[in-house]
Order: sequence, then C-alpha cells, then structure tokens
Amino acid sequence: MEISLTDKIALVTGASSGLGRHFARTLAASGARVAVAARRTDRLQDLAREIAAAGGQALPVALDVTDPASIDAAIARVAAELGPIDILVNNSGVATAKPALETTAEDWDGVMDTNLRGAFLVAQAVARHLVAAKRPGAIVNIASVTAMRTMGQLSAYAASKAGLDHLTRVLALEWARHGIRVNAIAPGYIETEINSAFFASPAGEAVIKRIPQRRLGQPSDLDGALMLLASDAGRYMTGATIIVDGGHVVSPL
Ligand SMILES: NC(=O)c1ccc[n+]([C@@H]2O[C@H](COP(=O)([O-])OP(=O)(O)OC[C@H]3O[C@@H](n4cnc5c(N)ncnc54)[C@H](OP(=O)(O)O)[C@@H]3O)[C@@H](O)[C@H]2O)c1
Repeated sequence: MEISLTDKIALVTGASSGLGRHFARTLAASGARVAVAARRTDRLQDLAREIAAAGGQALPVALDVTDPASIDAAIARVAAELGPIDILVNNSGVATAKPALETTAEDWDGVMDTNLRGAFLVAQAVARHLVAAKRPGAIVNIASVTAMRTMGQLSAYAASKAGLDHLTRVLALEWARHGIRVNAIAPGYIETEINSAFFASPAGEAVIKRIPQRRLGQPSDLDGALMLLASDAGRYMTGATIIVDGGHVVSPL
C-alpha cells in the first residue's frame, strides 16, 4: 500500500517547536497541506517558509488551545484558507517539573488546561466540522509513556497524559460512526532542542542507560507511527495507542 497524504489537509498544534515542528514537516513532505498552529507565530512563519522552500505548503495559524474562541477562530481560518481538515495532530503540551507536595493549584490547572482540556477542545472542534461536512477524519493525540509508567516531579503532566490516552479510546468509540478515527502516539524520550542539554549531562546519561535500546529517540523515529495513524494505511485502527520508546516501558523493575 502506498502511504500518501496528497490533497489531505492537516492541522498540527504546537508546531512552533520540537515534535510538532517535525510532524508538520513530515506530513508536508508526504503531500499534505499543513496548518501549523501555536502561540509563537513568528516561529510558525519561519516553519511555513521552510516547508514552502522544500516544495510543500503550510499555513501559519495563531492558536491558544486554552482559549475556546482561539480554537474556533483557528479552525475557521484553516477551513477558509486551506479547506476542510482531514487530519489533526493534537500535539500542544506543557510540563511542570515539581514535587507533588509543591505543585500548586495553578501549576496543576496550567498543565491540565493545555494537555487535556485543550486537546479535548481542539479534537471536538475539528470533529464538529467533520461531522457537519459528513467527512471522515483522523485524529492523532500525542500522549507520553508517562501515561503508563511513573516519573517523579511530573504528577500533573503524567495524569494529563494518562487522561489523554484514555480520552483517545472514548472519542474513538463515540466518533467511529462518523468515520473519524482517534488514535494516540505515546513517545518515550525524544531528543529536542529543549531537552538535549539535559541528556548530555551525567543525570541524562543515566536515564539513557535505562532505555533498553540505549539511546534517545529522534523525532524521525515517530514518523512511522504518525504516517500509519494519519493515513489510510491505518484505516481499521481506532482507539489505539502506539508506544514509540526504544523499549522504555518494558524495562525491568
Ligand atoms: N520530547 C519528548 O521527549 C516528548 C515525549 C513524550 C511526549 N511529548 C509530547 O509531545 C508534545 C510536544 O513536545 P515537545 O517535546 O516538542 O515540546 P516543546 O518543544 O515544548 O513544544 C510544545 C509545543 O506546544 C505548544 N503549546 C504550548 N502551550 C500551548 C497553548 N496554550 N496553545 C497552543 N500551543 C501550545 C508550544 O507552542 P507555543 O509556545 O508557541 O504556543 C510548542 O509548539 C507535547 O505534548 C509533549 O508532552 C514529548
């Protein structure tokens, strides 16, 4: 089967850095026209120029996933300028690293508002458009291995990702009748600009030794799972979470 996204329209949230930026490049290289969304629009414009220079098409769109009005405006803009959305990569996320005893209500709400409420509201807004237009679609939520395993200092983050992982199954159930597939990717440690300094440190090297494959993931290690879930190659998959972690969650206790 050929995996092509030609003529598909994709929305990638959190495309201004890290994994979202990479996902947008990957989808565009496969033929999709990609709306790249986040709050830092200067970075989105750079990315759109980069994608255009590589022969693709991208539309920078301002989006704050904690604000329902911003979500509606962003999706309306994508529909008006690119057309109806076929693929959503629900990737925006934040992490607060603090011991649970020191985590404030504001810390908790900040993480949940972006990672769980925000992801739900964006998925819901895209699904409403798909249902109204009677079009099928594919939603790919970006969860984390912290949805399945524990890690100190990440109580709100891990709980938000466990919520997103389960939300994936509930939405898959509700929206299957509309032809909307909802799946998730649970990445392990993937090297991006914000964590590469940590992983070069002795503490970071110790973490890498606990990964069975003995290396960090690279953003491109997620391409196979992304393309499977976003394309017709994954047409009979819904409610699934694909773990991409070099074996980290099966490491021994
Ligand atoms: N890197 C890893 O090892 C790893 C592992 C497992 C899961 N993940 C997940 O993968 C996703 C991307 O992570 P990353 O490592 O690429 O982190 P990152 O570089 O910090 O990217 C996070 C993205 O989320 C966006 N964002 C944050 N708050 C937002 C808001 N209110 N509205 C819209 N966008 C918002 C940011 O854009 P703006 O600030 O411009 O809005 C940014 O583009 C996250 O969901 C993360 O939990 C990452």
